[in-house]
Amino acid sequence: MKKECVLVAGGAGYIGSHTTVELIEAGYDVVIADNLSNSEMRAVEGVRKITGVDVPFVQVDCCDKEAFRQLFEQYTFDSAIHFAASKAVGESVEKPMLYYRNNLLSLMNLVELMHEYGRHHLVFSSSCTVYGEPDKQPVTELTPRKEATSPYGNTKQISEDILRDTVKAWPEMKAIALRYFNPIGAHPSALIGELPRGVPQNLVPYVTQTAAGIRKCLSVFGDDYPTPDGSCIRDYIDVTDLAKAHVKAIDRMVGGKNKAGYEVFNVGTGRGVSVLELVKGFERVNGVKLNYKIAPRRAGDIIAIWADPTLANEELGWRAERTLDETLASAWRWQQSLK
Ligand code: UFG
Repeated sequence: MKKECVLVAGGAGYIGSHTTVELIEAGYDVVIADNLSNSEMRAVEGVRKITGVDVPFVQVDCCDKEAFRQLFEQYTFDSAIHFAASKAVGESVEKPMLYYRNNLLSLMNLVELMHEYGRHHLVFSSSCTVYGEPDKQPVTELTPRKEATSPYGNTKQISEDILRDTVKAWPEMKAIALRYFNPIGAHPSALIGELPRGVPQNLVPYVTQTAAGIRKCLSVFGDDYPTPDGSCIRDYIDVTDLAKAHVKAIDRMVGGKNKAGYEVFNVGTGRGVSVLELVKGFERVNGVKLNYKIAPRRAGDIIAIWADPTLANEELGWRAERTLDETLASAWRWQQSLK
């Protein structure tokens, strides 16, 4: 039987590369499209090594519709996953047009080309950022979306709206938006992981680089929040677990189970962990001492957010499996492999 093929746009990136591995292990064929603007071929090579499959890679900018069209002419696939977007919250405040252009144009081109070529299943990388600062924890998919606090967050809200409206207009099209909480960690093989460019903006890469001596000291942004230990709370989801949620979403559409046409799922563990808990957990699990200090609050930070993943558990048949300890160990193994 011919395998289903999935286009992974942004497949050389952090979550895209892990998802490609899980798709292949679940029996899908994959073609990766990536412009390598914030990713590296070593991720594609890592994927090939882990899976033993010579995954096709096409260097293309999804914002260039005519170039992107060539890929549709060349490859047959029925499903696509859209990871090809910019993701730094702070940068999006400095360069809003870059974010609106990259994130929205790439999605619109993908959706229009899929419609034109009769390819009907799309999974979209959304974010818990669409909830803003929630009034109640944990957040469910019915928790109201609040006004976005950054252009990045706004692109995720607008993208979700684009998909909702498109699926309404083109009922043959099916789309699932996965609202990621905080993805961390690396593949157990340590052959792929996060490759931040320059100074990491996110907590775990900063932690691992500090442990490795690349950064002198981790700043914990705020210890005076109204939380049990005063630091912010997040729902840290293992990247391999997160990758598996994409496979479940594709399975659901291929199996014709998403009757609603457009669906949204939270992808988190359901457990809130504070910054200080994570830092101490990293030290304990990996037997390393982290040089850290308490620093002022970071502008724009949400105090606390964690997921209610019940819908994904029940409808997608997905749940987070790796423990935080396993994930923090994988993050450290990956950092050490970069020496
Ligand atoms: N933090 C530190 N020190 C650091 C970096 C982060 O204390 O050096 C803290 C932050 O203040 C925050 C927590 O660690 O309390 C997590 O911060 P991250 O930057 O790792 O993640 P965010 O929750 O800010 O952002 C992430 C993704 C976004 C996404 C957002 C949704 O990076 O893409 O979650 O809330 F939109």
